[in-house]
Amino acid sequence: MSDVLAHHRSTPASSRQNCSPGEEEGAEVKARIEVALASFLDAKERAGAAGGAVPEQLAAVLREFIGSGGKRVRPLLCVLGWRAAGGVGLPRPVVGVAAALEMFHVVALIHDDLMDGAATRRRRPAVHRQLAQSLGAGLPRERTERLGESAAILAGDLALTWSDELLYTALTPDRLADVLPLVGAMRAEAVYGQYLDVTAAGRREGGVPLALRIARYKTATYTVQRPLHIGATLAGAPAELLEGLSAYAVPTGEAFQLRDDLLGAFGDPGRTGKSAWEDLRDGKHTVLVALARERATPAQAHVLETLLGAPALDEDGVRQLRRVLVDSGARAEVERLIAERRAQAFDALQAMALPGPVAEELACLTHRATARRH
Ligand code: IPE
Ligand code: IPE
Ligand code: MG
Ligand code: MG
Repeated sequence: MSDVLAHHRSTPASSRQNCSPGEEEGAEVKARIEVALASFLDAKERAGAAGGAVPEQLAAVLREFIGSGGKRVRPLLCVLGWRAAGGVGLPRPVVGVAAALEMFHVVALIHDDLMDGAATRRRRPAVHRQLAQSLGAGLPRERTERLGESAAILAGDLALTWSDELLYTALTPDRLADVLPLVGAMRAEAVYGQYLDVTAAGRREGGVPLALRIARYKTATYTVQRPLHIGATLAGAPAELLEGLSAYAVPTGEAFQLRDDLLGAFGDPGRTGKSAWEDLRDGKHTVLVALARERATPAQAHVLETLLGAPALDEDGVRQLRRVLVDSGARAEVERLIAERRAQAFDALQAMALPGPVAEELACLTHRATARRH
């Protein structure tokens, strides 16, 4: 194992949150993505001002949402995939594709918050809430909510067409043909994962294996695996490299979601920018909850039965549920699963023998994804 990777593997995630190597480079990638997104949005604004068919308020909400502080994990991974396969520099087509991936993430978040009935995202009202407020003034409450939801579906659809546009204006027809199957697979996988997530909520069937499957498809593929594959494919990656990248990406992506599940039950909303209750109120079938169900004593099982998914869950109920999640050993076991996936990701990185700076960046990304507090 290279010294650098051996160091990463043996250092606890909690002490390596601020991975400094590559941060400057990451900042450069982020800056290029911000410019690409902003100039795309400017063009839409101009088209709207010139009388084009652009729904002004939706465009304004999307602009605000895009500027509201996402970590830009997927664009960064797309660029790292490009470099892993020997791509040099940061050419415009790669930046355009990376921006398209961020735009797809916007779709996923808007529709997710709508489906989850989430009140906040990135410390602000979720998009369906914002739209209810701004478009529903003067209407009765029920109509206002419905209007916010309808408009949020449309905002997500608009972002989806914009994601397409960013993609096909970035690439020549040949290169587009190379990545389209991967983009299609990424979208279908995300839909499948979200479908499993919403249909499994409130049910105990399926246990830990189903919860892991949900984490894989709703997050790991569209957050880590496919962005890496898409970037690598732009640089002509051979099949073995794509396989190696999957061996890194799937455990990293699952660990990212497992951390998200912990933040969704124990996180500080001041840091995460979203509620630490909603997963519990909605009875989400997370790995954390599935493990608690497996390990619960009869008294703990009673608490889970009565409070998980209860629409009127209150602070006291949340406290009781958290106690069960801790005392049953479920929380500690999720931490163990995260650590196990981290180690698998580092082993996969080592096996690929990537260029040093790329391996280092990917190692840092695994640290940040698994130890993050937001
Ligand atoms: C959140 O994704 C949703 C998951 C897939 C777990 P991010 O944590 O990348 O969200 P932002 O873009 O930084 O807000
Ligand atoms: C959205 O983020 C996740 C996806 C778009 C897949 P959340 O942090 O709200 O994640 P969930 O809803 O708990 O999966
Ligand atoms: Mg969800
Ligand atoms: Mg959600």
